[in-house]
Amino acid sequence: MQTLVEVRDLAKSYKRADGTMVEAVKGVSLDIYKGEIFSLLGPNGAGKTTTISMISGLVTPTRGTAKIGGFSITDQPIKAKRLLGVIPQEIALYPTLNARQNLTFFGKMYGLGGKDLEKRVDEVLDFIDLKDRQKDKIDTFSGGMKRRVNIGVGLLHRPQLLYMDEPTVGIDPQNRRRILDTVVRLREEYGVTVLYTTHLMEEAQELSNRVGIIDHGEIIALGTVGELTQQVGEEDRLVLSTGSQTVPDALLKRFEAEVEGVTRSLYDAPVQLAAEGEGATGATHGTVTLFAKRGRKALPGIIHIANDAGLDILSVEIKEPDLEAVFLNLTGRALRD
Ligand SMILES: Nc1ncnc2c1ncn2[C@@H]1O[C@H](COP(=O)(O)OP(=O)(O)OP(=O)(O)O)[C@@H](O)[C@H]1O
Ligand SMILES: [Mg+2]
Repeated sequence: MQTLVEVRDLAKSYKRADGTMVEAVKGVSLDIYKGEIFSLLGPNGAGKTTTISMISGLVTPTRGTAKIGGFSITDQPIKAKRLLGVIPQEIALYPTLNARQNLTFFGKMYGLGGKDLEKRVDEVLDFIDLKDRQKDKIDTFSGGMKRRVNIGVGLLHRPQLLYMDEPTVGIDPQNRRRILDTVVRLREEYGVTVLYTTHLMEEAQELSNRVGIIDHGEIIALGTVGELTQQVGEEDRLVLSTGSQTVPDALLKRFEAEVEGVTRSLYDAPVQLAAEGEGATGATHGTVTLFAKRGRKALPGIIHIANDAGLDILSVEIKEPDLEAVFLNLTGRALRD
């Protein structure tokens, strides 16, 4: 396995507006192998963008090193960046230019020109499946289409390595599917190595050869999906939606003590989110998660006790070991949207 990206003890502290320091990334070390899709999976604020920004040379680390193809991103940035395409979390395109003009403009910034650039723009438009819309202005595009143009920009100079920072956030399911397929095609057809960040367990699980789980600026687990899920054993999770009800600790203890097979419980209390503003959804629902060897067998006993205690279970999901379980197991918190 050839290492393409080598990250060692990378850290970044930011100064908050009130003058206090926050350590956004606390000494991350990882290797990304040539030809793999490596996902950095973690909740909002975990440090994914800060990590990507440091290893792409956009943010200077407080300490630590990152090398791409053996070149240090801080000491040999031009050589390191030549191998790299970055698709940032925020879309950066010119709204009044059309798709083709945007790609041409960014291609020139990469030092491409003439017939070669024309040809490359055609190839990229083909790849992101926007050839028929190339003459339309960006501000007439949907979010998903803009995202695809953004991806196209990152591909223009044929990078060996691509960083994609949460490329499916806020994108409709159809475009999301296209983006995920694009990532897989890049690897399979062009051998591109991909560093992909997401807070969605399903995406990391579907795409990745290996996953690094990041939380509070630290890598808390790293390996293939199989290796990581093995860490949590064979227990299923029974996730009970309990809405806005409060679930007392004593009831959790009863589930553990009285239902055969249940080994552990976790309670995610309902959180009151901001009622206004972007992404506001009002109050979220609470969940009780119970771990059991054979989830289906434990279910009747759980429902019986819930009824007895007057707890209204709104829905039940039985989940086999997955990355969400790994995160829960390591942090005691759910990895949710
Ligand atoms: N320029 C900055 N100044 C101060 N604090 C920052 C800055 N950039 C990030 N942070 C803080 O660093 C932490 C990590 O942020 P980062 O954007 O890397 O997380 P993330 O995992 O990308 O989150 P998200 O999923 O929301 O994109 C957060 O606490 C954030 O508030
Ligand atoms: Mg981010």
